[in-house]
Amino acid sequence: MTTPLISPSILNCDIARLEDELRKISSADIAHVDVMDNHFVPNLTWGLPVVEACVNTGILPIDAHLMIEDPDRWAPAYAEAGCASVTFHAEAASAPIRTAREIRRLGARAALALKPSTDIAPYVDILPEVDMILIMTVEPGFGGQSFLESMLPKIQRTRDAIASASLDISIQVDGGVSRKTIERAADAGATNFVAGSAIFRADDAFEEIATLRSLAQLHMH
Ligand code: DX5
Ligand code: ZN
Repeated sequence: MTTPLISPSILNCDIARLEDELRKISSADIAHVDVMDNHFVPNLTWGLPVVEACVNTGILPIDAHLMIEDPDRWAPAYAEAGCASVTFHAEAASAPIRTAREIRRLGARAALALKPSTDIAPYVDILPEVDMILIMTVEPGFGGQSFLESMLPKIQRTRDAIASASLDISIQVDGGVSRKTIERAADAGATNFVAGSAIFRADDAFEEIATLRSLAQLHMH
């Protein structure tokens, strides 16, 4: 049986207290850091220096989610900075295979993200080049939105495509993941769960992480 990975998104954390905020979630498996450029998505966060600062705390491995234009140009630097995984969007990449190979060559796991309206079908041939597929379960850009139930069949199709190619690839879900939705995502085939507001708005982040982990575990195949 696979074990779930819990990846708290620090999108809405207190950036002035970055180190304390990472400590607050240190019982998680990896920390999810959202990079937004105000072009690919209508919101702006931070870039390489802040992600590097997260890596350098050494508190948790870092999962960089790049919601940016031209990831072919920018993504490799996040691998070079020491991120454990670097996720770029299929819709923004012009050379996804080359970019994924470059990320892996630099020692990080490579992941391809799909917005809600992007299907997995055109990307099935790229699967052997990546370590993870991120199925967005909200429109990327903001935390605190509702989980899109309509993404469940896409998670299943992705799981089936991975299984029929006999590959070992994680499926990450990001957006609206909470106690209310994580079981359905796990049932559909997700193995890696990003949760922002569910964890940062909880009274006790450790307890929330433990609860999400055990709910997911019960529903994983
Ligand atoms: C949204 C980001 C998410 C976001 C999730 O575009 O990619 O990682 O922080 O936040 P919640 O869990 O609140 O939906
Ligand atoms: Zn994200």
